[in-house]
Amino acid sequence: MTRLAVIPGDGIGTEVVAEGLKVLEAVGVKFDTHHYDLGAARYHRTGETLPDSVLEELRGFDAILLGAVGDPSVPPGVLERDLLLKLRFELDHYVNLRPVKLFPGVKTPIADAGPDDIDMVVVREGTESLYAGAGGVLRKGTPHEVATQESLNTAFGVERVVRYAFDKAQSRPRKHLTLVHKTNVLTFAGDLWARTVKRVAADYPEVTTDYQHVDAASMFFVTHPSRFDVIVTDNLFGDIITDIGAAIAGGIGLAASGNVNPDRTAPSMFEPVHGSAPDIAGQGKADPTATILSVAMLLDHLGHAAEAVRVEQAVAADILARTPGRSTSRIGDDIATRVAGGA
Ligand code: NAD
Ligand code: IPM
Ligand code: MN
Repeated sequence: MTRLAVIPGDGIGTEVVAEGLKVLEAVGVKFDTHHYDLGAARYHRTGETLPDSVLEELRGFDAILLGAVGDPSVPPGVLERDLLLKLRFELDHYVNLRPVKLFPGVKTPIADAGPDDIDMVVVREGTESLYAGAGGVLRKGTPHEVATQESLNTAFGVERVVRYAFDKAQSRPRKHLTLVHKTNVLTFAGDLWARTVKRVAADYPEVTTDYQHVDAASMFFVTHPSRFDVIVTDNLFGDIITDIGAAIAGGIGLAASGNVNPDRTAPSMFEPVHGSAPDIAGQGKADPTATILSVAMLLDHLGHAAEAVRVEQAVAADILARTPGRSTSRIGDDIATRVAGGA
């Protein structure tokens, strides 16, 4: 049986994951699921973030479903770096796949934009950049403090994610790929990315390419999102533009993602783009749709394409029938009912 590790995490992570699992149950694919209590509670109880033994166990699963990590009671970076990023790095999730797609019936802040105008996929690099570079601090707390945080970019790491993005573009009707970077300032890293895209493009004659600096790309996300089809970008730029992407496609409660290991040397991990939302945690206010759409990506990744489409269709139908003020579990119930009944 397919083995699924579940890491609900912190805050609304636990609430939205429960709804994701409801929908997984409703779709009828049998999973052997194991829950892992990683996050703030375990950190406070034991001081652990991601013990080596747990990491090794996780390697034995077919996929991981994660809610979100991070809590105001834990210093910033502890859970984010030593748990979430450690998982992404150790399990070689070099593709962070983040669709930005406006469902029919969803309100976008962009006047006159419809589903045809907002339909892109951001291929965010997942294991390098500022997230992985060296850093340090000198003379901390003094007026002469110096903080450094380097961006690490390797030819190997850039090429593999760029090739994935070309494959993705090749598979889509528009076959267009945009590199988003900051080559006008980050002349070493940006140059590596630009040369890599140019070289790999020769292997994909049908894919058209262009380039946008990340500042301009951020503007075009909210003025002309239809410019974009597939975007390939560095880890930090991808983090930022996918929150903008979420905002234009109806809000962070709808934005799904997959931390993908395309070589399948370790399980891929699916999670909503959003965080643990301490401001609304425990109130049943979180929208679980992003997690449910992440479950659809998980199903697709594991070869259950038809079930993935059923989940997406149930979400699309649920969105059209939305009534305001539904609780987290009510939204999960409604979508699960549609999945089970094909309604
Ligand atoms: P956040 O995404 O948690 O919240 C930003 C805003 O969006 C908040 O107002 C929140 O209420 C709202 N929101 C988020 N998800 C929602 C949902 N499903 N339904 C309705 N509203 C939703 O980002 P933040 O506030 O910057 O970060 C909070 C914590 O989460 C921090 O500790 C951060 O490090 C962590 N974080 C974790 C992940 C992750 O685990 N992948 C991602 C982002 C942030
Ligand atoms: C995300 C989050 C993470 C990131 C943080 C929590 C480490 O913002 O998944 O988008 O920066 O990748
Ligand atoms: Mn983010």
